Amino acid sequence: MKIIGTGSALPKKVVTNDMLTEFFDTSDEWIRTRTGIETRRILTDESLFDLAKTASTLALESAGIKAEELDYIICSNVNNNYVYPSMSCIIQGAIGAHCPCFDIRIACAGFVYALDVAESFLQTGRAHKILVLAAEEPTRFCSWKQRETAVLFGDGAGAAVVTDGGKYFGARTTTISNTEVLYQRNRLEPTPFEVEGVYLDHPMVMQGREVFRNAVSNCSSEISALLKDTNHQVSDIKYFLLHQANMRIIKGIEQYLGGDPEQYPTTVQKYGNTSSASIAILLDELVRANKISRGDLLVMSGFGAGFTTGSLLMEY
Ligand code: COA
Repeated sequence: MKIIGTGSALPKKVVTNDMLTEFFDTSDEWIRTRTGIETRRILTDESLFDLAKTASTLALESAGIKAEELDYIICSNVNNNYVYPSMSCIIQGAIGAHCPCFDIRIACAGFVYALDVAESFLQTGRAHKILVLAAEEPTRFCSWKQRETAVLFGDGAGAAVVTDGGKYFGARTTTISNTEVLYQRNRLEPTPFEVEGVYLDHPMVMQGREVFRNAVSNCSSEISALLKDTNHQVSDIKYFLLHQANMRIIKGIEQYLGGDPEQYPTTVQKYGNTSSASIAILLDELVRANKISRGDLLVMSGFGAGFTTGSLLMEY
């Protein structure tokens, strides 16, 4: 797999920590010290589809290909205004593509899993040009009455166009089923046969400390194993593009793996946790700032509800 184009889009509304004190008993100091987040972007009059379309269009433009040339669109998305059609189907029409599409719904690790699925399609020759998109509005997963979750998130979309012909050294994907520590239940229509209590409507439920602990330990051990599997050292890697959930989680993984702090770029301070879009947005920002060159080795690693962990190592 080779990345030939990237794009991203964020809502225009910048929400500072101080602005959140209007809704919750919280403070800029608490949010900064516990999470590293200073601002986040939140959707107002744009929709998530607008962001997804813009990120996809920018990725296609930078790849220098037309939407009609795509063989597949794979989108990582947890929530949007539609249960179906899937986000990828909606974006296919919006950008004028004609290829088959599907969504992956595994929360924050979704972009890495989607890239790994794209790699299998490229390897088997099922496809040659694939748009991998991650678009998320996690500010609508959580209750805006719960300060412990609402301050953490932001909305955004990121995309990459991938083709065959590059160096993909390997990936590790793991899933540990857990419905207690981080989950959100769906709202379903009641039926005349409903059993009481089955159709509970719930915003996000999260035990922050447990999630934190699992994120640091799973990503650290999976990245270590990936480096070992592929015979690489930390010093071989230009950037570790980690899921941008919390600066302390990123620092925890950095401390475990070692290396130079510059190998661990961040956007969490600006955008908060944008779920599976975070790695895609970070990748696009580094590419557009000319901080990544052809031949650089990248590790991407995401962790999220499930629990799912996905890590990959490839050459840019
Ligand atoms: N503002 C002020 N105080 C807050 C607060 C907020 N927004 N949210 C929680 N608190 C309070 C708690 O009520 C608690 O008070 P108490 O000690 O009086 O009971 C105190 O702060 C400490 O809470 P705790 O949960 O122990 O803090 P923490 O250091 O674990 O940080 C998280 C909380 C959520 C920032 C941290 O656990 C985390 O980032 N977890 C991972 C979350 C995540 O990334 N989820 C998505 C995964 S993809």
